Amino acid sequence: MAPRPAVILEGERVALVAPAREAFVERWPELNDPSLGVALGAGTSALSPSARVMPPVTREHREAVYEAHVNREILAFELWVREDGRCVGEAYLAGISWPRGGADLTVAVYAPDDRGRGLGSEGAALLCAYAFDGLGLNRLSARFGRENAPAAQAVRSSGTGYGWREVGYERGAQWGFGRRLDVEVWELLRGDFPPHPATEALREPVTTAPAGA
Ligand SMILES: CC(C)(COP(=O)(O)OP(=O)(O)OC[C@H]1O[C@@H](n2cnc3c(N)ncnc32)[C@H](O)[C@@H]1OP(=O)(O)O)[C@@H](O)C(=O)NCCC(=O)NCCS
Repeated sequence: MAPRPAVILEGERVALVAPAREAFVERWPELNDPSLGVALGAGTSALSPSARVMPPVTREHREAVYEAHVNREILAFELWVREDGRCVGEAYLAGISWPRGGADLTVAVYAPDDRGRGLGSEGAALLCAYAFDGLGLNRLSARFGRENAPAAQAVRSSGTGYGWREVGYERGAQWGFGRRLDVEVWELLRGDFPPHPATEALREPVTTAPAGA
């Protein structure tokens, strides 16, 4: 029997799940699509898993990413579709730094058939909610190639409603499609992110029942 997913937060259609080592590592073939590697390669943080996903990706690379997750150098999450219990993608917080409370956010939906259905946007919103209300971060940034139309469209159509703001773009910051590409940089501040149903309760003070109640 497949192990029960360790659900962190649930949205309408997507759940944010803590990755189990074996399943996470076994997914290494999914990361050998060069176009996915190029799409994720815009992450500039040296600790970003994006820097490690350009094919050839092997089981050992995935194990290294999982080790980085266990050591809290990055935080890895899985995106599951609640309806059918499928893991359709993953998301990361990398470059977490204190006391500024910043991190880089990356989202990937593995299969082209699962993209463009709103799953990535919903998963990203869940992760933002957790980053702010669960982890107490103050600022998230996201980077993607200027030619990455789905990412650009997703952040413009859905992200701006959550407070994402375009900072600008870094010239020639990424290598992809045989040339240097410009990279869009977006930011989201905790104060600009509206309360999210999945994490509203985390903002409340913790109350404990009196002994004997
Ligand atoms: C970027 C990504 C995470 C978005 O997830 P998703 O589930 O596909 O996103 P959504 O369905 O919520 O939104 C995608 C938007 O792009 C649009 N889109 C999809 N393909 C497109 C294309 N080729 N050209 C233009 N727009 C496109 C969709 O119509 C949708 O816009 P809408 O909400 O206005 O209809 C996903 O496409 C992905 O994993 N891509 C590869 C990895 C990557 O680029 N990650 C980003 C690094 S931060």
